[in-house]
Amino acid sequence: MTTTAQTAEDDPAVNFSTAAAGANGSRFVRSCLRLPVDRTPVWFLRQAGRYMPEYMAVRKHHSLLEICRTPQIAAEVTITAAEHLGVDAAIIFADLLLPFTPMGVDFEFVANEGPVVHSPIRTAEQVRALRTDRVEELSYVARAIEKVAAHFSAPRADGDQLGIIGFCGAPFTLASYMIEGGSSRNYVETKTMMYSDDVAWPLLMQKLVDVLVAYAAQQVEAGADVIQVFDSWAGALSVSDYREYCLAPTTELVRRIQALGVPVIYFGVDTASLLPTMRETGADVLGLDWRVPLDEAWRTLNYRVAVQGNLDPITLFAPSEVLHGRVAEILRAAAGRPGHIFNLGHGIVPGTPVEAVLQVVQQIKQSAIGG
Ligand code: CP3
Repeated sequence: MTTTAQTAEDDPAVNFSTAAAGANGSRFVRSCLRLPVDRTPVWFLRQAGRYMPEYMAVRKHHSLLEICRTPQIAAEVTITAAEHLGVDAAIIFADLLLPFTPMGVDFEFVANEGPVVHSPIRTAEQVRALRTDRVEELSYVARAIEKVAAHFSAPRADGDQLGIIGFCGAPFTLASYMIEGGSSRNYVETKTMMYSDDVAWPLLMQKLVDVLVAYAAQQVEAGADVIQVFDSWAGALSVSDYREYCLAPTTELVRRIQALGVPVIYFGVDTASLLPTMRETGADVLGLDWRVPLDEAWRTLNYRVAVQGNLDPITLFAPSEVLHGRVAEILRAAAGRPGHIFNLGHGIVPGTPVEAVLQVVQQIKQSAIGG
């Protein structure tokens, strides 16, 4: 194996849980910690979703929130997707916005529109009123994780333990939904509060961090091996703004989750210019979107962090030879270095052919490291 990478042991940013990797030797967790593995682990963002007939069958009878809030169904959806695809990790079926409810922010998912927050948070007074003492109400997610962990407690046929991923949003991305009231193109209201209200913005960041740490703690206690922090819209920020308004709370979130004893994957989209600053959070793994060549991005990070990615999800619509070529290109760019987790650069979109996803899993499994 060719590697000039630092090992997990000699990087103080990640040495906290090297012992945990011994206890949980799954190739997914080992890769998060940049330890050597037999082959590249693979899973997919939004692997349980609307492209999958099994999910749509469940969705016919239940709303998205019902699925999230019913541990038996959330666990079943999570397990079905992971087993059908044969991936190395299962991400718990939940949604980024679930913590809004115990904070006192009402929202719903409107068909073809996405999330809608009924009274967007725009003032310091509204931020002060946000509750941080009811995180226990989210324990249905932990109950679902317990069921998934129990289901996958035995090693699989190849002897490897399936990794279980819990997740939460990052403060900026969650704040953007709270403040805009839904998805956004220009983040005008969010950035206005960020630039001009030095009471509301830091207080909102702090409240979100406190809630998210408690929520992540429930998930870890229930059996999550790794927590992924979704900062999906961080790419809307300049490096200066990210550094000034988001880096400190995000770093606090990452460090406090790591103190629970699990590695953290920190994911964003359109982040090529932000990656070195995102690395300062101390996250164990950075998600890469497809716009940046994996080898170039990893080199920029001096290989001192694991990377996850970074196939363009729309490549799954390409002819199978093109898809094969793109996957091979990513594996070549990773060059067998410890610390690469194969994934997409963003989530699987509705309409994606399941066979294409299965083809990628097959290809990764046939590509032994060093082989
Ligand atoms: O398999 C998995 O990846 C786990 C499930 C999962 C969902 N949401 C279920 C879901 C995950 C990881 C999320 C995270 C999430 N939720 C993010 C960050 C992920 C990313 O893509 O960057 C965001 C931004 C949200 C908020 C959210 N939830 C939006 C903007 C939407 C609408 C999107 C759309 O395409 O309509 C949702 C709805 C949602 N969450 C769906 C699923 C499967 C699709 C809607 C449905 O089933 O009715």
